[in-house]
Amino acid sequence: MTPETHEWAQSLDTLHDQAWKRLARGVADRRAPCRHPTLATVDAEGTPQARTVVLRAADPKAARLRVYTDRHADKVDEVQLTPKATVHVWDNVAHLQLRLIASVEVLIGPAVEPVWAQLSDHARQCYGFSPASGSAIDDGLAYDKQPSADSLAVLELTLQHMEVLHLGHRHRRARFSRSDGWSGQWVTP
Ligand SMILES: Cc1cc2nc3c(=O)[nH]c(=O)nc-3n(C[C@H](O)[C@H](O)[C@H](O)COP(=O)(O)O)c2cc1C
Repeated sequence: MTPETHEWAQSLDTLHDQAWKRLARGVADRRAPCRHPTLATVDAEGTPQARTVVLRAADPKAARLRVYTDRHADKVDEVQLTPKATVHVWDNVAHLQLRLIASVEVLIGPAVEPVWAQLSDHARQCYGFSPASGSAIDDGLAYDKQPSADSLAVLELTLQHMEVLHLGHRHRRARFSRSDGWSGQWVTP
């Protein structure tokens, strides 16, 4: 499929719809480009912090995404201080760049027990380190894994704005906002 055949890029509605289809594909398919977005937050000094994450859920109706992380990871402290994040993906299959600006809620404790119950033993290994994630250690492997539900945090990202750039024969760029019901606005690329 070439960019010229991406007919969905021609209208705001279908472009918005396609962005959510790509996100849903990322959740379902380990090899899809949207599987591994970059999550950007701002730290206490105002420095942008970006890292790769796995996209765990994408709900187009509520315009919400979910990411799982270790409760003691720096990104959790960052969003507790500044509850905002941007998710970035370059989907090279659809020729789409997505910049998704979100407010963030951190879910921990009983709220994440159903999520923990569904994780495989292998997946659980990512949540619970001693010393805590980001601690200075004497050697690259001088840490233990102590998986526990208490160490899991779910970041619930409620999208406020979506900016979608399609690279085609002629590029198209659009902004969508929760405040106008995601109707969308073309902008110059
Ligand atoms: C392919 C890939 C997938 C990753 N997925 C996650 C993830 O889903 N959640 C997470 O917290 N960290 C994930 N990481 C690790 C983060 O990129 C980061 O190194 C770690 O979370 C610490 O970030 P922080 O100190 O900014 O919180 C992933 C890294 C890679 C390379």
